[in-house]
Amino acid sequence: MSLTVYRKAHFNAAHRLYKEGWSDEKNSQVFGKCSNPNYHGHNYVLEVGVTGDIDPETGFLIDLKILKDIIYQEVETPFDHKNLNLEVPAFKKLNPTVENIAIEIYNRIKNRLEDRFTISVKLYETPRNFVVYTG
Ligand code: NI
Repeated sequence: MSLTVYRKAHFNAAHRLYKEGWSDEKNSQVFGKCSNPNYHGHNYVLEVGVTGDIDPETGFLIDLKILKDIIYQEVETPFDHKNLNLEVPAFKKLNPTVENIAIEIYNRIKNRLEDRFTISVKLYETPRNFVVYTG
């Protein structure tokens, strides 16, 4: 019997979306307010789903304390109150769009879990804008 458990988390982070080599004007046309050269912040909301089979011994799919700790170590510690462009190595060259942040979070969490689990990452950049990545 397969089902999915979810854990929510949130983090605040600053970013700037831009393409190197483009003028500030062109970046502003393409990325809008998110290309402000002085950065700006978002309150990101994260939902991580883990799908798998229930362990008949415990009744758990995964111990949510373990998932909580992984999200804390892999997402909250490295991202919360950080400048994503300057302080997260993955975004030194890669634009920290909500799409790319979701993929980075997916990869970090997937690497920490047993292969028998599949995961989904839902990441809200604003209450109305969000992406879902399932690998
Ligand atoms: Ni933005």
